[in-house]
Amino acid sequence: MKQIYGVIGNPVGHSLSPDMHEEAFRELNINASYHAFLVPDNRLQQAVDGIRGLGIRGVNVTLPHKVEVMNFLDEIHPLAEEIGAVNTIVNENGKLTGYNTDGEGYVHGLMPILPKELKNIRALIIGAGGAAKAVAVTLAKYNIHGLVIANRTVEKAHELAKACEGWTDSSAINLGRAQARLTEFDLIINTTSIGMSPDTGKMPLSLETLSEGTVVSDLIYTPAKTRWLQDAEARGAIIQNGLDMFINQGALAFEKWTGQEAPREIMKKKVIGKLG
Ligand code: ATR
Repeated sequence: MKQIYGVIGNPVGHSLSPDMHEEAFRELNINASYHAFLVPDNRLQQAVDGIRGLGIRGVNVTLPHKVEVMNFLDEIHPLAEEIGAVNTIVNENGKLTGYNTDGEGYVHGLMPILPKELKNIRALIIGAGGAAKAVAVTLAKYNIHGLVIANRTVEKAHELAKACEGWTDSSAINLGRAQARLTEFDLIINTTSIGMSPDTGKMPLSLETLSEGTVVSDLIYTPAKTRWLQDAEARGAIIQNGLDMFINQGALAFEKWTGQEAPREIMKKKVIGKLG
């Protein structure tokens, strides 16, 4: 029988997940389909019950439900618990387990472009929202050498730095301090939406003092090369946009659902084609 998968979110119409996962199912000859389900806030619990009732095998969870959905699951994986958000649900005979593959998706995409091992990397994370938390907590658990979180609202950066304590040396600063300390870092990550279409002229901070060879990443992938990444590239940085994180979070979810290795290159090609 055909297996059903999907993504729940609001909005969800522009999600690239259905195309990406259906391409992977086709490639591996898995009899399955993947659907985008628009779920309003006041219907989340019913939607989750629907996963059980209808025997939907696996679901991705996107904004705004990643935190709230945790209340309705049977089990939460420790990394998702620490991040405080779930982006993947696995249904085993009605028992729903929540995972978070966002942070690991980022780290898997990052590893191949790092000039040295993660345990020797000092990173600056700009932003302290949900995406920053997934990335920061996962980097901390993968034993990155050190993390500095910079945010407009510095209290939120302190909270996030605290969540990373115990695994890595972590601290919080404001954006002005981050600007002044840019040369200290091997890796600088923009997790904010600054620079996303249609506000493509904006940058989270200036890269004027950036050292050549620094890895600069942006979780944004529309546009493919934000002004931030263009500027970083012009200063000799190694750059990466958010596409590899997106593909890898999907691939890791796919692997939890199917037990098979996800065809990442094919998934990536499909998504790039859709982005145009
Ligand atoms: P997400 O879940 O995508 O990470 P979020 O939780 O709303 O989104 O977080 C957005 C992040 O971008 C926050 O760190 C936010 O800073 P504040 O905590 O100070 O709000 C940051 N951000 C968004 N717009 C910004 C702007 N114009 N200048 C500086 N920081 C901005």
